[in-house]
Amino acid sequence: MAKIPLVDLKAQYDSIKDEIDTAMQRVVDNTAFIGGKEVSNFEAAFAQFQQTKRCVGVASGTAAIFLALKALGVDEGDEVITTAHTFIASVEPIETLGAKTVLVDIDPATYNIDPAKIEAAITPRTKVILPVHLYGQLAPMDAIMEIARKHNLHVVEDAAQAHGAELNGKRAGAWGIASCFSFYPGKNLGAYGDGGAVCTNDDVIADKIAKARDHGRTSKYEHDEIGYGERLDGLQAAILGAKLPHLNDWNAARHRHADYYNQALAGIPGITLPREMTGARSIFHIYCIRVTGDRDAILAELNTRGIGAGIHYPIPIHLQPAMSSYGWKAGDFPHSEAAAETIISLPMYPELTNDQLSYVTEELADIIGAQVKS
Ligand SMILES: Cc1ncc(COP(=O)(O)O)c(C=O)c1O
Repeated sequence: MAKIPLVDLKAQYDSIKDEIDTAMQRVVDNTAFIGGKEVSNFEAAFAQFQQTKRCVGVASGTAAIFLALKALGVDEGDEVITTAHTFIASVEPIETLGAKTVLVDIDPATYNIDPAKIEAAITPRTKVILPVHLYGQLAPMDAIMEIARKHNLHVVEDAAQAHGAELNGKRAGAWGIASCFSFYPGKNLGAYGDGGAVCTNDDVIADKIAKARDHGRTSKYEHDEIGYGERLDGLQAAILGAKLPHLNDWNAARHRHADYYNQALAGIPGITLPREMTGARSIFHIYCIRVTGDRDAILAELNTRGIGAGIHYPIPIHLQPAMSSYGWKAGDFPHSEAAAETIISLPMYPELTNDQLSYVTEELADIIGAQVKS
């Protein structure tokens, strides 16, 4: 069996080569590199896809979070509550704005923020709750929205991994005041470079972000505030626009692959499968299992056998050297730490074949079996 990568971007390109090539050529022919129809068309289509009124394309998922928090007025001294088990980009914008990151542990069954622990983290300085829809499954947004309403807080969704994911039929992005998407190439909807978007039903916030991403300009050389160079470019927008009509099918294919993994790995001692919560429809950006035994040895053996497994993420936020000024220590967020030590992400992309899925599950069962015996 040829090597099975964690993500295969070439397989996806091959499946829609003509559509992508046409879109890219159109941008070059029109020299529509910045702004213009490619961007506005994609924004309209993506807003509709996410069930929001507006979408503002920006340069990355990180920029989306930064600009959304900035538009809500998050500033020095404010506190933003988020999860300890996420990619560093969930908290970077909080730090860049000079606000304080307040972490909450995860629910170990879903890897998402535990809503039962949020209220204890709220102080008079709390301004925003920033749930992350990790691995493609929505955080428990009904409970989170209720807490936010009770305490008069904003909710900004980090939906970087959740394009098209749903909870009770409502999509990621349609819950909070603003939601932030990444189009990093490996995401379920990925550009051919960096890209991101903020979706919102709030025109004031959308307009603020649209201005801030483009140097605070009101006309070509007139700027009524200091903004940023954080636009989504025309080439990326055209590529994303060509891919978007396929996204529901791709997400469905990922779900089928997850079902395959779940069935093939069910009942193997030493493996905990991912759990989709009642009412949730995950888009399986990442298919994450948990193992007992020597996780790093299991991972290394998978890699040796040509299986591109990985870890998302090996170090929780509170133990990142970049966050050391907070003085957090091991033991502060035990479920996040336990996850970081035991999780493995298996290959997951729409174009996976049954032969590949079968190879991954058979090899994994063999490796785990050998571990259990030894
Ligand atoms: C949970 C999460 N938040 C934020 C980001 C940041 O997105 P980007 O890499 O597009 O800046 C990512 C992706 O990398 C992510 O996975």
